[in-house]
Amino acid sequence: KSVKSPLLLLDIKLRLVMESALTARDRVGVQDFVLLENYNSEAAFIENLRRRFRENLIYTYIGSVLVSVNPYKELEIYSKQQMERYRGVSFYEISPHIYALSDNTYRAMRTERKDQCILISGESGAGKTEASKKILLYYAVTCPTNDHMAILGDRLLQSNPVLEAFGNAKTLRNDNSSRFGKYMDVQFDFRGTPVGGHILNYLLEKSRVVHQNHGERNFHIFYQLLDGGDDDLLITLDLERNPQNYRYLVKGNCPRVSSISDKNNWKVVMKALPVIGFTEEEVQKLLNIIASVLHLGNTQFGEGEEGDTYITTETQTSNLAKLLGVDGSALREALTHKKLTAKGEEMISPLNYEQAVSARDALAKAVYGRTFTWLVEKINQSLALKVHSKDSSVIGLLDIYGFEVLQQNSFEQFCINYCNEKLQQLFIELTLRSEQEEYETEGIAWETVQYFDNKIICDLIEEKHKGIISILDEECLRPGETCDVSFLEKLEDTVGSHPHFITHKLANGKTRRVVSREEFRLLHYAGEVNYNVNGFLDKNNDLLNRNLKEVMCQSDNQILSHCFRREEVIDQKRPEMAATQFKNSLMKLMEILMSKEPSYVRCIKPNDAKQPGRFDEVLVRHQVKYLGLMENLRVRRAGFAYRRRFEAFLQRYKPLCPETWPNWHGRLVDGVSTLVNHLGYKAEEYKLGRSKIFIRFPKTLFTTEDALELISCFSELCYTNFGMFSLAEYKIFLGVNVCTCVFRCVVIVIQSGWRGMKARRRAKRRRQAAELIRRFIKGFIYRHEEYCPENEYFLDHVRYSFLKNLRQNLPKSVLDKSWPTPPPSLVEASEHLRRLHMRNMVIKYCRRVQPEWKKQMMQKVVASEIFKDQKDSYPLSVGRLFLDSRLEREQINLKVIQTLGSDKVQYGVSVIKYDRRGFKPRPRQLLLTNTFAVLVDRTKIKQRIDYAALRGISVGSLSDGMFVLHMPTEDNKQKGDAVLHCSHVIEVVTKLAMMANKTSYVNINPGSIRFTVARGKEGIIDFIRGSELKVAKGKRGHLLVVSQRLF
Ligand SMILES: Nc1ncnc2c1ncn2[C@@H]1O[C@H](COP(=O)(O)OP(=O)(O)O)[C@@H](O)[C@H]1O
Ligand SMILES: [Mg+2]
Repeated sequence: KSVKSPLLLLDIKLRLVMESALTARDRVGVQDFVLLENYNSEAAFIENLRRRFRENLIYTYIGSVLVSVNPYKELEIYSKQQMERYRGVSFYEISPHIYALSDNTYRAMRTERKDQCILISGESGAGKTEASKKILLYYAVTCPTNDHMAILGDRLLQSNPVLEAFGNAKTLRNDNSSRFGKYMDVQFDFRGTPVGGHILNYLLEKSRVVHQNHGERNFHIFYQLLDGGDDDLLITLDLERNPQNYRYLVKGNCPRVSSISDKNNWKVVMKALPVIGFTEEEVQKLLNIIASVLHLGNTQFGEGEEGDTYITTETQTSNLAKLLGVDGSALREALTHKKLTAKGEEMISPLNYEQAVSARDALAKAVYGRTFTWLVEKINQSLALKVHSKDSSVIGLLDIYGFEVLQQNSFEQFCINYCNEKLQQLFIELTLRSEQEEYETEGIAWETVQYFDNKIICDLIEEKHKGIISILDEECLRPGETCDVSFLEKLEDTVGSHPHFITHKLANGKTRRVVSREEFRLLHYAGEVNYNVNGFLDKNNDLLNRNLKEVMCQSDNQILSHCFRREEVIDQKRPEMAATQFKNSLMKLMEILMSKEPSYVRCIKPNDAKQPGRFDEVLVRHQVKYLGLMENLRVRRAGFAYRRRFEAFLQRYKPLCPETWPNWHGRLVDGVSTLVNHLGYKAEEYKLGRSKIFIRFPKTLFTTEDALELISCFSELCYTNFGMFSLAEYKIFLGVNVCTCVFRCVVIVIQSGWRGMKARRRAKRRRQAAELIRRFIKGFIYRHEEYCPENEYFLDHVRYSFLKNLRQNLPKSVLDKSWPTPPPSLVEASEHLRRLHMRNMVIKYCRRVQPEWKKQMMQKVVASEIFKDQKDSYPLSVGRLFLDSRLEREQINLKVIQTLGSDKVQYGVSVIKYDRRGFKPRPRQLLLTNTFAVLVDRTKIKQRIDYAALRGISVGSLSDGMFVLHMPTEDNKQKGDAVLHCSHVIEVVTKLAMMANKTSYVNINPGSIRFTVARGKEGIIDFIRGSELKVAKGKRGHLLVVSQRLF
């Protein structure tokens, strides 16, 4: 085997593998930002995001935080197989994924028995809701379950489209923007089976019910109903299909959106409602409410002469009352009048036009908003834990509106951004705290990190008595003339000096231009936002006239009567203002979140056009900034880029060090220490904590990873290319200069592994050999016994050896009679085999024989039967072929041929005929046909010898060519016996005997031949041996033939 070429091949392969690993890393950036070399550079951060985004790698970690970039297209990464890939796999071992985070959270909950929460943040359209759906789906598919729980899983999943229909809308930023905050708990029992769920909803953007910005829509459900509801349904609800006919649906001038199929979504919602426990009646009641909101929007007012207001759309109002299940005239009055209590007396006063419009809109918002809350409650009932389990744990999922900056920002944006401010605070608090705690538990000195603490902004908004919310509440409650502008002035008075607050009046020249007179600006952690104070007071008041509430309390629609409680009307205490309510619910949420172990998903939208493949750097940079990702990274990197538990580190890298491979038996910390010393880590590169190793620079980790990759590809190549290879070859391989430092590790590990393996193999072989010899000797001693355990190996071996030997030494031709001597146990079998083999060879030989040769052989066989051991000249004839004829065709006279006519000459030969009396020799031709022979003298046939009449053929036993054809004596026509001589006597006699079918008629006479001459006289031929052939007349008138002595 050539040593050089495979090594060369290996070298090239190794280089390729290494290079591709390096370029792959380069091309798709780092999977974890903490491994970014230049971690302070925002440009490097964004470049890494971009590279990965280009390759559809939308997920990247910052430590345990998952950053996700909205791909705006379906990726093939959410299948069931993918879920299986991530199940039970450690965070770092596999590419970042929302499933990895889901799985990790789930396992942390199970092993640490601590409640978890996953906080999903990001601006509108960044993919928060999609992420939360993926997480839920992951749990629904992968968690253990039973029939009952499968129903729960179904409900969990089905509640989504329903909530989205009622709580989501198309905005400029997201075609399916959640207009409410959602926190969902999934409860698991001690087996890890999901057993219940609970949803908390936050501040639905109710203003959308009555107004939408240009290019935006109302909540999906309205369009779904109009597009998907069948004709009968629309007739019962007194609705028309065209959304343009409804004032509440045309404000944004965008009734249809290409990316949304209202009809299909309607079907999905209608299917989901029964799954989450809605009866048919409830569905009908719910739809009545939705329709009534549309009718409310179309309720129009006229102005009376005295400034009073009346309804101009009478029929509409009757239908509206019917749908709401309330009394028509009471509703009419409540929409145009308000009830006041002055000095204990109730008074009714008419509303002016604006007041009537705003009362109507307030009713629409209240009806829709409260119905939404009822819907969430209803879903909660269907998800509620049926059997209370003591040992249950919870995973919370927070999908709440992201930071929002619009052209015109109002009360809703103020609340939304406040919420994000709170979440950011929590995030900083928890990540910093956990980082700090980790250093403490590991006994490693904490290095302080500078970060922006947004507490100051939170305080500005929420502080009691001094914060913006308190001032707003005060302004709403203050008797006397209050309006949005007075609120702004109050703000200027109270918080005007705050560094994060600016108004037109407070600003200097440059800023003044970008803040209008009706706006105040907050410098949020995420950026500056101007809020227009118009509508702040109203929205915060969220007032619904008491008489409208009274009407609604009496509704015979159970949903509405549940939403509008009588106590609310009786109770004179003013309910909390909207902003305060929201603040309190956020406080509660923070408490919930603080009590749990958090994980984070930070969503980023790559462009504003909702397009796949577009990465708008400015937009992304802005989000990276306000999501605080750089800070997050700095905190993570402040000390060490990377950390891992000792056992995990050792498990992964132990192949790189001979002392730790294959197993380390000492203390973990010593193992890790041995390993990193062996790898040549410098002191400043790492620290060993109590249970974890901390690595300062990403490079250190990369080199270690490279070594690991190389070693795995090396062992694979060795096995596929070499199978086994010698130490010498291996050393040559080591001489290949690839990457010395990495190779050093590889070399040592492979050397020790290789040596160990060789030694083990050698020892095993020795053991086997000794055992074999022992059995062999024993078998030899018992070889003459019956087949028994002592000799079975030996006898089998002998048999096996004989057969193996026989196979190689079989006779090659039929003439070869050799055959190996069999052992006693195989004598019979051997004989069978020999015969079989011989027969086989004969068959093969015969199959090969040509017809010509076959004829020859048959004649030779007959010759052998006649002459073998009888005549001296026979052995010499064996090697000479018999010819078809000894005469050419031309040598036979034409006349003779004509005389013979149809009897064809089969064989012709020249002979000498001796006269019977004087023995005078005469040359003749002997011609054989199929039935007779003729003696021819040139043109004349001298004698015809019919085979049938032939009495015999006599031949001498010596080497002469004399032969006599005996003819019948009684036949006078015959001339007596023919005495002939031919130098091919064996051939002639054989052919003649065969043709005449008289082989048994051939006599071989040792001394003399008697023959008959005509008329009964007898002649004799005497044979003797002499120095040379001679035929002459001898004594007593005999013919004397002297044959040549051959031997
Ligand atoms: N992982 C994803 N894969 C494919 N499309 C996504 C993904 N995340 C978001 N999207 C697309 O972006 C849109 C907005 O996402 P969504 O989760 O509703 O944003 P958010 O809740 O943050 O406002 C979705 O409707 C979907 O079209
Ligand atoms: Mg959403």
